[in-house]
Parts: sequence; structure tokens; C-alpha cells
Amino acid sequence: MSSRIAVVPGSFDPPTLGHLDVIRRAARLYDQLHVLVVHNPGKEAMLPIAQRLSLLEQSVAEDDMGDAEVIVASWSVGLLVDYATEVGAGVLVKGIRSQVDVAYETPMAIVNRHLAHVETVFLLPDPAHALVSSSLVRQVAALGGDVSPFVPPAVARFLDGGARR
Ligand code: PNS
Repeated sequence: MSSRIAVVPGSFDPPTLGHLDVIRRAARLYDQLHVLVVHNPGKEAMLPIAQRLSLLEQSVAEDDMGDAEVIVASWSVGLLVDYATEVGAGVLVKGIRSQVDVAYETPMAIVNRHLAHVETVFLLPDPAHALVSSSLVRQVAALGGDVSPFVPPAVARFLDGGARR
């Protein structure tokens, strides 16, 4: 299993500038990066998985990912570590904004290591994005606010178009 291949999993509902910051920085640490949209049954979704995939693909294409190969995919048929094992990834990369994120992520990291010897690497966010979350963006978008300071341009274009429809 290569540690040069990593997975960045998440709900990405919608992708935010915080997500893109983590993806961009992970792309400088690994040769191949799988940005994986995973359905989280604990969260009520705003966007269908296919829409999140499309927004992530556009956001990655419009950004500078350096020399890494960035693959955008989704996974809904089993454990996250099954996907990681299938693509030969030894690492999951997650962004950690606060102690709340640490408490949420720590048990998952331990379980994933026990399940498949897959390590989790935590990246601290750029302070500019430390308070941005998909749930806040969903709330601002639902109430007709401007989400462009918090999301990649492709997501802003999509959500703004939705607001005007
Ligand atoms: O962006 P989110 O909602 O915080 O992402 C959470 C996610 C999707 C990464 C998490 O729910 C997850 O890892 N789901 C995969 C299911 C799984 O493998 N569970 C067992 C080990 S934790």
C-alpha cells in the first residue's frame, strides 16, 4: 500500500473554500489524491451526490493543484477504508478546524486504522477559512444570502443561479 496515494473524504455539501484549501495542500503532499464524496446518513443533504461531484470537479479544475493527479469520485457501497484499499491509498486527509472537529474525527481515525491500517493525517486550516462550514453555507444559501466569500467560484455560480431561478 503506497503512502503517496491519499483520499480526502467528506460530504462536500457543498464544497467550501476550506475544503479546497485542504485539497490543494494535500495535493502538494501526495502524488495521487482521491477527493471522495461520501454520503453521510447523519446529515440531511442539500445537493445530490452527482451535483457535488460536478462542483468539486469544476472547483479542482479551476484551482492550482500542482503536479498531483486529483481524482474526484463518490462512494456509497461500504466502508471508506474499502475505497482506500481498492485504490491503494494508505492515508486519509482531513481538515481540523477546532476541538469539536478533533473530537468528531479522532474515533473515526482510530476505527479506520484498526479496520484497514489506513492512517489519518490532519491538516490545520488556513485561518481565513477556519470558521467556514458547509452547514453555514447551506443556511446562508437557503435564506438568500451571498455565499461567494465562503465557496469556490464554481459553487458560488451554481448557488447564485439557484437563488435566481
Ligand atoms: O464532511 P463530513 O460529513 O464530516 O464527512 C464525514 C465522512 C463522510 C468522511 C464520514 O462520515 C465517513 O468516513 N463515512 C464513511 C463510513 C465509514 O467508513 N464508517 C466507518 C468508519 S468511521
